[in-house]
Amino acid sequence: MEGFAEELARLKAREDAVVLAHYYVDEEVQAAADFVGDSYYLAKAAAAAGQGTILFCGVRFMGESAKILNPARRVLLPDPAADCAMAHMASPEQVLAVRARTPDLAVVCYINSTAALKAVSDVCVTSSNAVKIVSALPERNILFIPDDNLGSFVQAACPGKNFLFLGGHCPVHVAVRAEDVAAARLAHPEAPVLTHPECLPAVRELSAFVGSTAEIVARAAAGAEGEYIVCTEPGVLFELRRRCPHKRFYPVTPPCADMKRVTPARVLACLRDGSGEVSLPAAQARAALRPLERMLELAK
Ligand code: 13P
Ligand code: SF4
Repeated sequence: MEGFAEELARLKAREDAVVLAHYYVDEEVQAAADFVGDSYYLAKAAAAAGQGTILFCGVRFMGESAKILNPARRVLLPDPAADCAMAHMASPEQVLAVRARTPDLAVVCYINSTAALKAVSDVCVTSSNAVKIVSALPERNILFIPDDNLGSFVQAACPGKNFLFLGGHCPVHVAVRAEDVAAARLAHPEAPVLTHPECLPAVRELSAFVGSTAEIVARAAAGAEGEYIVCTEPGVLFELRRRCPHKRFYPVTPPCADMKRVTPARVLACLRDGSGEVSLPAAQARAALRPLERMLELAK
């Protein structure tokens, strides 16, 4: 009987598809994907795709961003119900209200957001490039949406700017409490703490390093230490163990239930049936393209 990887390879050839997977999805899916990485890497891979179909193994905002960057290509999501709660934690109406009353303002939208939110924003960012991009903006006032925690991390690195927030967060990363990290440090005193900026400031303060998932992987791979406490979604342990087979990793973050909806069976079914196709209102997709392209330009 055909295994998952063999069936995926056969369907990919039949459908002229490229498979992109985020570090947080199922290990078998990561192992079989053409490109695996963090949100910034995958946005670049989507923008450069030459195939007729992009199969995006991630949550909805990732598939939407790939579609916005590739209006002429088919973008499939293995499970369109796999969404990101944080993506909805600000509304276009709130953004327009802040715009109307704030001069010298840039609206900076984390890529973990709805297409409607991107469409009213000036520039998108990911956790890999947010500091670089916000530092390069000429505006003094920064409305950072929808993640207050990534926003406060960027704020600390950009002291000349005035930040405004609307109160969003990642439920998975804020589930990690400073007490959990303190307990992990007691249990593993030699292990530095590597933390995603979506975590709470109190957790970031206990950390040796704060960065995106790709930056956490790079820090662990380059580090001289033999063990690490990891404060980001545990799917990343697959890549950490692949890159660093002799090091030990202690995860303290719970899984993201939405990322875990991307199962091998759903990946095959969507490519086999052409289900889960992303489609967006044309005007919204056009408006959301500008901030995504500006991100790719400024992050270079
Ligand atoms: P990065 O891929 O930018 O590290 O972000 C993590 C995340 O929460 C994706 O949903
Ligand atoms: Fe959204 Fe958090 Fe899940 Fe990432 S880990 S998809 S930010 S809920």
